[in-house]
Amino acid sequence: MKYIIGNWKSNQNLTESLVWIDSIQAIKPRFNKDISVILCLPFTDIAGFNHKLADLEMPITTGAQNVSHLAPGKHTGEINAAMLAELVSFCIVGHSDRRREFAETSEMVAKKARLLLENSITPIVCLDLPYLDEQIKELFQKNIDVSRCIFVYEPIAAVGTGRPIDPVDANHTANQISFLIDNAAPILYGGSVTSDNVKSFVSQNRIDGVLVGTDSLEPTLFAEIINSLGN
Ligand code: PGA
Repeated sequence: MKYIIGNWKSNQNLTESLVWIDSIQAIKPRFNKDISVILCLPFTDIAGFNHKLADLEMPITTGAQNVSHLAPGKHTGEINAAMLAELVSFCIVGHSDRRREFAETSEMVAKKARLLLENSITPIVCLDLPYLDEQIKELFQKNIDVSRCIFVYEPIAAVGTGRPIDPVDANHTANQISFLIDNAAPILYGGSVTSDNVKSFVSQNRIDGVLVGTDSLEPTLFAEIINSLGN
């Protein structure tokens, strides 16, 4: 199975997200049973987006971009994993945006992953070299079953910059991650992925798919990525 995961970050309200579906529907990308297409949306879009996907029987699965590291309780404003369980099958944790802007630590990431798994949601764990060892160690310390996660190598210099890294280097780090998790889970690459370069990453022996930020927002570009991989 190959994965294409879109990450809209803090973009698109519900109305805009429904227009995005209409556009994808009109473009008719060549969805393929060997490619899992997952779109990680803002919390506010998920329920309405799911309804429309179901109506159109479109083979896209939704995910969230974050979850509280706390269990349900007196935590004003927090969205916890039990709330998400009704809405999504996947959730990103540890994205470099959240580490940088919201001081998310490896310990918090591991707590989030644990709560997600307890609620049958697959954590999509983002990693980069400076904290890769520490973060994976933290997952093992919190007894996270890494075989139930998806990992994404996201070199910070490549995220949102239009400057992807060399696919061979990405594969090298994917193999390092694979070694640390005993080859138990899919490993993806993320950072300036486009329809022009997606194949060069996914053709590497240890890269099982991609996480796409910027080009997931534009239906034409996202559809081209799906089609490039399907060919
Ligand atoms: P990008 O974002 O595709 O715009 O580089 C990747 C990401 O969401 O991490």
